[in-house]
Amino acid sequence: MVTMDKLVALSRNRGIIFAGSELYGGLANTWDYGPIGVELKNNIKHLWWVRFVQAQPLVVGLDSSILLNPQVWEASGHVGGFSDPLIDCRQCKNRFRADNMIEDFFAQKGDAREIAGLSDDELRGIIDEENIPCPGCGGHNFTPIRKFNLMFQTYQGVTDENATPIYLRPETAQGIFLNFRTISRAARLTPPFGVGQIGKSFRNEITPGNFIFRTREFEQMELEFFCPGEEADHWYDYWRKECMDFLLELGVKNESLRMRPHSQEELSHYSVATSDIEYLFPFGWGEVWGIANRTDYDLKAHMSFSGKDLTAMDPVTNEKYIPYVIEPSVGVERLLLMFLADAYDEEDLEDGSTRVVLRFHPLLAPVKIGVLPLSKKLTAQAEELFRKLAPLYNAELDDRGSIGKRYRRFDEIGTPYCVTVDFQTEEDGCVTVRDRDTMEQVRLPISELESFFAEKFRP
Ligand code: GAP
Repeated sequence: MVTMDKLVALSRNRGIIFAGSELYGGLANTWDYGPIGVELKNNIKHLWWVRFVQAQPLVVGLDSSILLNPQVWEASGHVGGFSDPLIDCRQCKNRFRADNMIEDFFAQKGDAREIAGLSDDELRGIIDEENIPCPGCGGHNFTPIRKFNLMFQTYQGVTDENATPIYLRPETAQGIFLNFRTISRAARLTPPFGVGQIGKSFRNEITPGNFIFRTREFEQMELEFFCPGEEADHWYDYWRKECMDFLLELGVKNESLRMRPHSQEELSHYSVATSDIEYLFPFGWGEVWGIANRTDYDLKAHMSFSGKDLTAMDPVTNEKYIPYVIEPSVGVERLLLMFLADAYDEEDLEDGSTRVVLRFHPLLAPVKIGVLPLSKKLTAQAEELFRKLAPLYNAELDDRGSIGKRYRRFDEIGTPYCVTVDFQTEEDGCVTVRDRDTMEQVRLPISELESFFAEKFRP
């Protein structure tokens, strides 16, 4: 059975994910993606980009900057509203998110009460009424709840006197809103059309955790789809389906996915409808993808703060209107954790051992083909084959250790096929191809490998 501990250990041992800054004792909740992890991450981003940007007739791409004019975050509501309710324990000096503390307390008691949308005073009232203890020391001596803004603030400028406060973006979406006018003109687009973007976002999360599920630095893949208000419901349904189909087509188990619409109290200030695609992680259901109807909130706010016209023209009536935005937004690392958990499998073999295998969809697999000489004497021949395959598919040449151990290692990083060069290869021009999932082996002429793999890795 998959557990978080097993995923963390496998990720470390097999070069998928390492703890950050380890050499200096680490930096809590930062992670580095190793040789296998970076391939997996790149595959996820590439597959998203193809599906949500290139293959969509109405969507174009963008790469906007992380640092934006600070006024953007006032217009977007992030300076005033992007905050979590914090509470301190006076006894043990630990700090908690008040809403999480209450939710955890209710979950332990099997109490299904909803607290989304409650004010800080109401949350504080529940803590007192229910006599909720401090998760750190069990005490009951708390401070009032204070708001804590999640944006990372830094300074731009060379000298202290003229350094201006500036924020690291907490979402990539705002960079798209700022470019609505320029893209619309340059790409000759009028709504409905969308803009997709992949990039880093930063949030000073109070309670990061669950491995890479919630971190302070992460990458988002966001699509802002601009449309007339009356088409918003149609596009909301369209994008919810596209997102779910994307996951199912990449082999994620149906029973581990659900689409959860937000209750009225839970909705963000800018949204009239939001659905989360959730996955059943080893620690429970967790949000993977949020699809929101952001209405005309963002363009309206930027129009009012910037004084610039962000309206579109109705091609039939020639009337100006402010477009609505449908936004599917997902984190690269969240998806990666989901794919990892979903692919993890343990199989009991006849010899009594257990085989760990990541059953990644072939298009997600970080290493597509392992090339293995049966003996070190055959390394030169195997390298020749590797050089033929590597420009087409990410392949890896491995001539260290017994063939059985090498197969196991490739299973553990989810490599769909291993090609073994043996002593007969020179005579008959054939190699053995082993399938990761069935462990079946077939002998194929080298000349047929290209078409064999073209079929297996067809998008
Ligand atoms: N622009 C809308 C937006 O940012 P969000 O629900 O705050 O909405 C969207 O974030 C997605 O980004 C989430 O569904 C999740 O996949 C990812 N995400 C958000 N915060 C994250 C964090 N601290 N660590 C990792 N991923 C995060």
